[in-house]
Amino acid sequence: MIELSVEVSGAPLGIAELLGRVSAICCAVEGIPEAISFGRLVDDSAIRAINREFRAKDAATDVLSFPSVRYPVGKTAKGAWKRLLRERDPESGKAHLGDFVISLPRAQAQALEYGHSLLRELAYLTAHAHFHLMGYDHEQEGDKRRMRELEECVMEELNLKREHAPSDQQLFDKASEAMQSAYTPYSRFRVGACVLADDGSMHQGCNIENASYGLTICAERAAVSAAVIHGRTKLVAVAIAGEQGVAWPCGACRQVLNEFGPDMRVLCGQAGQPFETTTLGALLPHAFGPSDLK
Ligand code: THU
Repeated sequence: MIELSVEVSGAPLGIAELLGRVSAICCAVEGIPEAISFGRLVDDSAIRAINREFRAKDAATDVLSFPSVRYPVGKTAKGAWKRLLRERDPESGKAHLGDFVISLPRAQAQALEYGHSLLRELAYLTAHAHFHLMGYDHEQEGDKRRMRELEECVMEELNLKREHAPSDQQLFDKASEAMQSAYTPYSRFRVGACVLADDGSMHQGCNIENASYGLTICAERAAVSAAVIHGRTKLVAVAIAGEQGVAWPCGACRQVLNEFGPDMRVLCGQAGQPFETTTLGALLPHAFGPSDLK
């Protein structure tokens, strides 16, 4: 359960209900009774002021959470339930997990960037905030993976997934859009890519050349980096748009794509033209991948 206050104008309706569901699901995933948290949707300058005051960081961010208790090392809400109950909210009688703040403009920008709805992004940020409130962090690689898995469970349970799965055309359009940002002073051969992760999020990349030619990064690998930075390591499709013609992924990119989605679909074409569809398996048969090292 969330007591939600909205301090920015133009906040869409239905948010409080959806985020209340997210909170309840997070508690269920953690295995604790429903608890209470206090959330605020604010603008960038407000979240920046809070970040400055409480974390000595003078920068806007997407989400901040403030747990009501200090968790013993290695414990999360489930293992510190007694401690949490001491922080009972007098009005509802429920354990108080803490407070969180989300920047609505940031959520809006991220929703646009990943190609999903604002509600989905707010739900995701709320789940992220809740796992922090319940004692999780993402400092170490393993902890980060664990937190991501829990967030995924919540998103799956919410069932917002399929509603917002982008179409092939949308994915290809995102690749064409990314192409506009290509840095290609040497070849003038602009390429854009967009990978689709298993949660429906899209991540763009463009080719980035270098005066030391061999250090050039292809659009596909730039898109993979963007996905991984956002915690998405399961990719289901990639779209590649070339400005001058169809640019099939180079050998290095095929191998890098294989790491995160051996079964992914590949959409390839010239921007503004119809694209062809194949699979990575067809482009890289008998691939060497993570499973070969097990
Ligand atoms: N390039 C890509 O970005 N992706 C491909 O699939 C093939 C090639 C880039 C690298 C370089 O900047 C330019 O295209 C010419 O090789």
